[in-house]
Amino acid sequence: MAEDSFTVTPWEVSGKIDYDKLRRDFGTGAIDDGMRERMKKICGSLHPMLSRGFFFSQRDLKLVLDDHEAGKGFFLYTGRGPSKAMHIGHLVPLIFTRWLQEKFKADLYIEITDDEKYLFKREYQWEELQAATRDNILDIAAVGFDPERTFIFKDSEYVKNVYPLLLRTSRKITHSTVKAVFGFDESTNIGLSFYPAYQAVPTFFEKRRCLIPCAIDQDPYWRVQRDIAESLGFMKTAAIHSKFLPPLQGVEGKMSSSAGLETSILLTDDEKTVKNKVNKYAFSGGQPTVEEHRKLGGNPDIDVPYQWLSILFEPEDKKLKQIHDDYRAGKLLTGELKAILIERINSFLKEHRERRKKAEKEIDSFMYKGKLAKEMWGRTYY
Ligand code: TYM
Repeated sequence: MAEDSFTVTPWEVSGKIDYDKLRRDFGTGAIDDGMRERMKKICGSLHPMLSRGFFFSQRDLKLVLDDHEAGKGFFLYTGRGPSKAMHIGHLVPLIFTRWLQEKFKADLYIEITDDEKYLFKREYQWEELQAATRDNILDIAAVGFDPERTFIFKDSEYVKNVYPLLLRTSRKITHSTVKAVFGFDESTNIGLSFYPAYQAVPTFFEKRRCLIPCAIDQDPYWRVQRDIAESLGFMKTAAIHSKFLPPLQGVEGKMSSSAGLETSILLTDDEKTVKNKVNKYAFSGGQPTVEEHRKLGGNPDIDVPYQWLSILFEPEDKKLKQIHDDYRAGKLLTGELKAILIERINSFLKEHRERRKKAEKEIDSFMYKGKLAKEMWGRTYY
């Protein structure tokens, strides 16, 4: 692999990602200071994932804010394709989505694609994926969305309410499009060729603009949606894209469930496992010896514990800067930085487990009985 080469598709993320180049290749817009200022004015504050540039790319975000200010509103849509247990990277777009929902009081649709991974890998059995799906839904509910304004649905279950619209959507997407956009070829099963139509359908749930928070790997779907939406009488979707939470081993690629378990922190990891994984595997920007580190300082830009603190685990700018400066100056050692991260992850996971317990009672509202869920089960889409 050439030094600067990388791959980002919905199925694979590898290499050292040049996010500016990726944005140019994908044809998405940047999130500039002006846009951040506008968001801050509307929301009263900025989520650290926005102010620190972790959400770095967008499509039509300006139009979403225009619609909001004109009183038309917009709705949010995001999703998850369950295969195994979730890792902390999967929570990144969800946590940001919760913030957007709180700030904008927007309806939110969460698509659980229990069909997608089944089609993607022959080894998966339906029952095992359904078990992962139930589990994942609990983790998602634990993020703390508004139960009256949020509809979490499983593709295999909600399909009866959308099948005609799904067909209408799929009629607009040709085989040559999915070959070009997703790299499908002659050996791809026809279920997988059809699937992108289902990922587009929730963007049509309301007759106003849809905003999708997700990592940048999902953008190819939105390109397809934007090509066909208007011809179906709907709006082109907007999107706001994040970078990837890097794997423990280094700032290349993304944390992923299909890579080895030692590359990620799972939501089910206990305290000891978290400690072992971080101490053993987390790539450090520190120097090989304490002496050298004291003298030369560490490099936070390539240090995974620092990156994780900056993305997810240290919301306070002042504290983060202190850690950054102390590490650079060699005052803070690698082991000490790792210890800070371990403590943060473990308290985050402890809270998550508690919220997950409470969420068991809320699942029904999100999926069937809350205000939005009830409305959605009463609706059919053509
Ligand atoms: P899935 O299950 O692969 O990923 C779920 C969400 O997590 C994001 N993500 C990450 N974000 C930050 N760092 C990481 N290391 C990381 N790994 C994954 C993904 O971008 C995604 O937002 N096809 C989708 C399911 C889906 C969906 C959607 C996602 C259906 N409709 C609408 C987003 C928006 C999938 O398999 O996601």
